[in-house]
Amino acid sequence: PMKRKFWIDTDTASDDAVALIMAFMNPDIEVVGLSIVAGNVPLDMGVQNALYTAELCAATAPIYVGAAKPLSRDLGTAQFVHGEDGMGDIGLPLSGRTPASGNAVDKLIEAIHLHADHIELVTLGPLTNIALALQQDPSIAKAVKRCVIMGAVADHIGNVTQVAEFNMWVDPEAVDIVLRSGMHLEFVGWDISRTEAVVTPQESAMIRSLGTERANFSVDIQRVLEKFCAEETHLNGFDLPDPIAMAYAIDTSVATEAHHWYLAAETGSALTRGMVVMDTLGVMHQEPNAIVVTRASHEKFMSMLVDALR
Ligand code: BDR
Ligand code: CA
Repeated sequence: PMKRKFWIDTDTASDDAVALIMAFMNPDIEVVGLSIVAGNVPLDMGVQNALYTAELCAATAPIYVGAAKPLSRDLGTAQFVHGEDGMGDIGLPLSGRTPASGNAVDKLIEAIHLHADHIELVTLGPLTNIALALQQDPSIAKAVKRCVIMGAVADHIGNVTQVAEFNMWVDPEAVDIVLRSGMHLEFVGWDISRTEAVVTPQESAMIRSLGTERANFSVDIQRVLEKFCAEETHLNGFDLPDPIAMAYAIDTSVATEAHHWYLAAETGSALTRGMVVMDTLGVMHQEPNAIVVTRASHEKFMSMLVDALR
């Protein structure tokens, strides 16, 4: 049978890397390409982190360099969350690898047309590359089967400001473009990560006991994130937002509750920058433009994670 075709857009840092492993190791999925975007770390670091992770999985998908900064703002990174190198600062040799040639946005558009109606887009970072692709060729919106987005918070408890989730906060103008595009969108927000994708110290030990390089890597690179979780987000262990979004992209039964809602992004206010406002009651009488996952299964997520790392 034909494998499912995934395109992954990522600002590769410590949790992105684990999500990439889940996709690379899945026998039913062909990752046809990756586009790197600036976000967690400056662009060239994200590129190197993705190349390192692909090498670890012996994955051959082309990795293309995308946008170095948001559409109209300066880049704000999350190196205080994931480490200076984005990978926990554990001393990994994260340099010297060469990405595929060609512009990520052009390559994404090409891939969408080549695999029209089948390709599934998974975004793990700010939406800059996707917005640029939509601006260049609006017809891609309807050629994508679905776009699963790690972003936003359905409970409006933010991780970068009181109300905003990091990926949406970095480039709110890009979020606005994507939400208005007509693309089939499915959001897995940080609320899902905070409640269902926390890996406790006991679970980390269990993952290490799998004994593979991928398993140890996936825990070791969360070292700085774990400290951030203890001090800032008050979680017991570390949470894996991109991996639970990837798990849902692979198997929607990870979600135990989801809603079809009208979403809009805040681009004006400084206080609520990047907030994705969700019309949960339908009071705006607008056509819903996204599916939002509002509950998920920790057990299902952990079992998929273990499958990818064993
Ligand atoms: C998101 O922001 C980044 O820190 C993570 O990689 C994830 O994509 C969580 O808000
Ligand atoms: Ca990410």
